[in-house]
Amino acid sequence: MKLTANLMILIVTLFGAAIDGYHCKVVQFIFGDSLSDAGNNKYLSRSLANANLPWYGIDFGNGLPNGRFTNGRTVADIIGDNTGLPRPPAFLDPSLTEDIILENGVNYASGGGGILNETGGYFIQRLSLYRQIELFQGTQELIKSKIGNQEAEKFFQEARYVVALGSNDFINNYLTGVYSDSWNYNDKSFLDYLMETLEAQLKILHKLGARQLMVFGLGPMGCIPLQRVLSTDGSCQQRTNKLAISFNQAGSKLLDNLSTQLAKASFKFGDAYEVVNDVITNPQKYGFNNSDSPCCSFGRIRPALTCLPASSLCKDRSKYVFWDEYHPSDSANELIANELIKKFGFLRVDAPSPAPAFGPSSETDE
Ligand SMILES: *[C@@H]1O[C@H](CO)[C@@H](O)[C@H](O)[C@H]1NC(C)=O
Ligand SMILES: *[C@@H]1O[C@H](CO)[C@@H](O)[C@H](O)[C@H]1NC(C)=O
Ligand SMILES: *[C@@H]1O[C@H](CO)[C@@H](O)[C@H](O)[C@H]1NC(C)=O
Repeated sequence: MKLTANLMILIVTLFGAAIDGYHCKVVQFIFGDSLSDAGNNKYLSRSLANANLPWYGIDFGNGLPNGRFTNGRTVADIIGDNTGLPRPPAFLDPSLTEDIILENGVNYASGGGGILNETGGYFIQRLSLYRQIELFQGTQELIKSKIGNQEAEKFFQEARYVVALGSNDFINNYLTGVYSDSWNYNDKSFLDYLMETLEAQLKILHKLGARQLMVFGLGPMGCIPLQRVLSTDGSCQQRTNKLAISFNQAGSKLLDNLSTQLAKASFKFGDAYEVVNDVITNPQKYGFNNSDSPCCSFGRIRPALTCLPASSLCKDRSKYVFWDEYHPSDSANELIANELIKKFGFLRVDAPSPAPAFGPSSETDE
């Protein structure tokens, strides 16, 4: 009995000590483009990459546009939800405070943004990855002055980092033929340029404290509706798909290398190219009914660059792989997120008891 009492005191003391110090939550910092934007471009009033229109967000919360470039959740939303992490608010949201950052992290992702500064220039306003990292440095200063350098260092080292850009560097830069990158580089040298730039950016993030970081690779971007309309028979652009595959191979090597080079770093690369490609080829196998045209479309006038209030919507949004000309639907994002969770081997931060892979009821649901 005396032993138990001592143990109790010990436990209480340890617990007491733990709540004395600042208890940091594990949060996410997200760097990305329109596939991860959770409202930043809404506040870039001159940006032409904007999802602040009906029918964006129709299957999210109250159904009003929220800045996400899809009908529902982004891949990062779903991965965060499934791993027990809060959804970080957009950096440009005027209600963002230090307390909110400490509880939820920050999302810097911006529609039209790329790894390269020059990408997406014709959108007029967008946050490139370098700019997003600068804004993150500002966030760090803010948090340091709030909780002190030591606690801030711990907070930023324990956080999870997502870096998800690259498709705009191709679709809205290299492949357009209107930027100097189109004629100054070839497929190989452009990829090297992207990888060198990404390497420098990831090293900066490591210097700033990032230890657990994942980079999302590219899907078969030659199959987005906007690329398909470029060919007379509506088939996927094979050259664009090949570039995505090369990006994924080079990115995967880069991240393996950085993970061994950088101290205490778990830097990972994962893509859902194969599974999305399979969905596009065999939509029925995954419960989809359409994998080549946008759910939100302007009838026969294609491509409409964005989903507009005057557009019409498909009957069943959950059966379309693509929401608009560029972006996957909520259902497709769920599939992509589940694939990435498998690839990255994510563990929940709140460590629940493991659920059986197949519940007893799953057999009768078929
Ligand atoms: C990219 O933009 C950032 C500002 O966001 C600037 O500091 C940096 O020098 C630029 N890099 C290049 C290579 O132009
Ligand atoms: C890893 O990076 C270093 C330094 O940039 C380079 O010398 C080395 O060849 C790379 N290794 C691999 C396996 O890519
Ligand atoms: C979608 O459903 C319709 C009606 O059931 C069917 O005729 C069509 O082949 C389906 N298309 C795809 C791509 O699954």
